[in-house]
Amino acid sequence: MEDLRIVQTASWVPNQIVENDDLSKIMDTSDEWIQSRTGIKRRHISTGENTADLAFKTGQLLLEKSGWQARDLDLILVATMSPDAYTPSTAAIVQGRLQAENAIAFDISAACSGFVYGLTIASRMMSSGMVKRAMVIGSEVLSKLIDWQDRTTAVLFGDGAGGVLLEQTLVETPTLLGTHLKTFGEFSDELSAGNTTPGCDFPKQLTGLTPFKMNGREVYRFATHEVPKSILATSSQSGLTLDQIDVFLLHQANARIIKQVAKRLDQPLEKFPINIAEYGNTSAASEPILLDECIEKGMIKRGDILALSGFGGGLTTGTIILRY
Ligand code: ACO
Repeated sequence: MEDLRIVQTASWVPNQIVENDDLSKIMDTSDEWIQSRTGIKRRHISTGENTADLAFKTGQLLLEKSGWQARDLDLILVATMSPDAYTPSTAAIVQGRLQAENAIAFDISAACSGFVYGLTIASRMMSSGMVKRAMVIGSEVLSKLIDWQDRTTAVLFGDGAGGVLLEQTLVETPTLLGTHLKTFGEFSDELSAGNTTPGCDFPKQLTGLTPFKMNGREVYRFATHEVPKSILATSSQSGLTLDQIDVFLLHQANARIIKQVAKRLDQPLEKFPINIAEYGNTSAASEPILLDECIEKGMIKRGDILALSGFGGGLTTGTIILRY
């Protein structure tokens, strides 16, 4: 039978590292507060690289590591909440720079659920026969959207990118086991960035974008309730019990949220790798960075069953269960 195979993973983060202590020099916060509330120790922050630069670097690594040629790609998706521009899409910039002349390219806007949304869209385009080889990347430069005076958001986020190459190919056992996406637009004000205001004047003045704003407590409550539901809905769709899932790759927003989800699902915390200490919350990039790290470290092996689950702005949730 034909099904989806994750051929390659890669990730790329900017060189500059900002420690919690660096933040306590510019705002009223402390390493102790940040670590105890979130699990974050440091984050990588862009020094001029934009979202498409990080995505392009990840795309180059994916091609180098796999031996694929850019012209082999039929589809490039970039999941991001911090695109370079309204248009062109970040994915189109990446397609042009990679010279992937046969690929169609567009962005996915589902904030931190974006990578799972992207995998789901790619998988559907592949199973329909429209696409055979796809590159799906999550890339963010959130530091350009942050109000660096606002300690309630500034300490949480980081920049980075990660991605996968997917191929629709002959497999012995099914690999795409379940997927569940959900959108909660009634909570759209709980997390926002880059709002525009048209104003009533004519001709209109160009206005700037608003910085990142979040109701942290509400998003925390949302995540700890909705992520377990999303994982349970996907596992029941796939006919698997939670015990049959080897690794849960959750969006890295807060180590406390991940621990709470593990508890609610009654699953051992060892099945939930956490790397937020090094990167902070990199939104759509957090799951592909984590996936790549786990594969590089040998924590995920071929044949393992993975549940990737994200939540974020929209608000949105998304889970996909795959055999690696
Ligand atoms: N340093 C020191 N003190 C701080 C800081 C800071 N950086 N930020 C807030 N505080 C203070 C607050 O002012 C408050 O003080 P007060 O009690 O005197 O009023 C106190 O710390 C507690 O604040 P809370 O907001 O209650 O802290 P909480 O324990 O809820 O942690 C946090 C806040 C980390 C934001 C948590 O609510 C959270 O993780 N929420 C989920 C956020 C999330 O997952 N976001 C990502 C969504 S994904 C996406 O789409 C991008």
